[in-house]
Amino acid sequence: MPNIICITPDGQRTELQVTEGTSVMQAALASGLPGLNADCGGACQCATCHVYVEQPWADQLASMDETEDAMLDCTGEPRQPNSRLSCQLMVTTALNGMVVRLPAVQ
Ligand code: FES
Repeated sequence: MPNIICITPDGQRTELQVTEGTSVMQAALASGLPGLNADCGGACQCATCHVYVEQPWADQLASMDETEDAMLDCTGEPRQPNSRLSCQLMVTTALNGMVVRLPAVQ
């Protein structure tokens, strides 16, 4: 089962064991990790599941679609080149060890 590492703004590091095909957002909420609101439940309509994906994983992710790209212009904390919506990030074994940082504001 792939591990995804989430780092909160205060530096707390949480390792999530995620079933393949589950989104990073779903795994984070299931673990009780604070910092993701996911108000729309993963429908790519709220931008409250914003994360910053560390390299080298950011370059290995599937490209975002137009909807995710548009929603990333609505994040609470400024969009960066490595910004993604965690509900759109489906975990695969290739992403084992991926590190995502949570913004201070969603
Ligand atoms: Fe709403 Fe990801 S949960 S955009």
